[in-house]
Amino acid sequence: MRIAKRIKNLSPYLFVGITKKIAEKKAKGEEVISFGIGDPDIPTPPHIIERLCQAAHDPSNHRYPESDSLPQLRQAVAEWYERRFGISFSPDTEVLPLIGAKEGIAHAAFCFIDPGDIALVPDPGYPVYSVGTMLAGGEPYYMPLIKKNNFLPDLDSIPTHVLKRANLLWLNYPNNPTGAVADLNFFNKAVKFAQQNGLAICHDGPYTEVAYDGYQPVSFMQADGAREIGIEFHSLSKSYNMTGWRIGMVVGNPIMIDALKTAKSNLDSGIPQAIQYAAIEALTGPQDCIQEHNITYQRRRDLIVNVLNNIGLEAESPKASLYIWAKIPEGYTSASFSNSLLEEIGVVVTPGAGYGKNGEGYVRLSLTIPDKELEKGLAKLAKWRNTRRPKTGL
Ligand SMILES: Cc1ncc(COP(=O)(O)O)c(C=O)c1O
Repeated sequence: MRIAKRIKNLSPYLFVGITKKIAEKKAKGEEVISFGIGDPDIPTPPHIIERLCQAAHDPSNHRYPESDSLPQLRQAVAEWYERRFGISFSPDTEVLPLIGAKEGIAHAAFCFIDPGDIALVPDPGYPVYSVGTMLAGGEPYYMPLIKKNNFLPDLDSIPTHVLKRANLLWLNYPNNPTGAVADLNFFNKAVKFAQQNGLAICHDGPYTEVAYDGYQPVSFMQADGAREIGIEFHSLSKSYNMTGWRIGMVVGNPIMIDALKTAKSNLDSGIPQAIQYAAIEALTGPQDCIQEHNITYQRRRDLIVNVLNNIGLEAESPKASLYIWAKIPEGYTSASFSNSLLEEIGVVVTPGAGYGKNGEGYVRLSLTIPDKELEKGLAKLAKWRNTRRPKTGL
């Protein structure tokens, strides 16, 4: 038996290694507190679960779903975008529900990348942009996201020979892992850049609803001309605490949406219909849960940022997203720092280098940690700093 090179040469997904280490520690009876994965700890709101249960009892939802989903779901997505961002989409040609944004992002590579093509991807970035590109036989070109540029890519610095082979530009704001945000000026500039260089843009925006201090992130689709060259991935995972149900959507350019529809109808058999009804309820029902969750995350954000700065990790308060991007002390790599915390105090943070070369020097902490554990984790970090003071000079 031979495993294909495209899989053999692929590293396991970032969180697989971290989850394994946590399981090993827990099996030894050790306490582990995780600021790792961005997976909301607050349950899915009850009205959404109620609708899911009702729909699960209906036998008409026990059969294969249509691969482009229920028309009512596509309509609900279009109405949500209209209400939230003031943009209208045709539910028939410009909206496609997904089995989570991750599924659509991975399949997008097969739609827009031929072998030898380049996809421009953020570094640090959500790993699926580059992995999808490689699985499709393409090559990622990593655009550094650095603090000096507010973690926005410097599009003008991309070399001409790269642009000649590039077909796709990936963007993601509010950003994972840096927590950075982008405004419409940046998106307008990105659309112009794509038009000048014959690129399509895939914007990934699952965190537009997770925002603090009254800040309201924009949608890439609000940029002038975005619909002519781009699409936006979105998700119910983070807005409605539905990571476990696997449901997301993509909206925008009808030719790009149609390409994804073709890929998906050949490769998957759609989203379980009961989950589609739950998604309709989420998008059209009461929206108070979003604000309630954000109040909780904001409180956690402030607690974490305060402790991190006190123990010598430079961290700014993100305006949006579920993540704090913290600069680690001198003398560590992001991996050695994360390992030290895990081994010495049983606290998990994600090493920045896992998101790309430019993530080195940082760790990411997620706000999706229950309050009690958060308190314990922060107390452990503060204590760790005291034991470390002589060695690190912190
Ligand atoms: C930037 C980004 N895009 C997409 C996803 C995946 O979302 P979904 O749960 O809808 O697959 C995540 C999940 O963490 C993410 O951080």
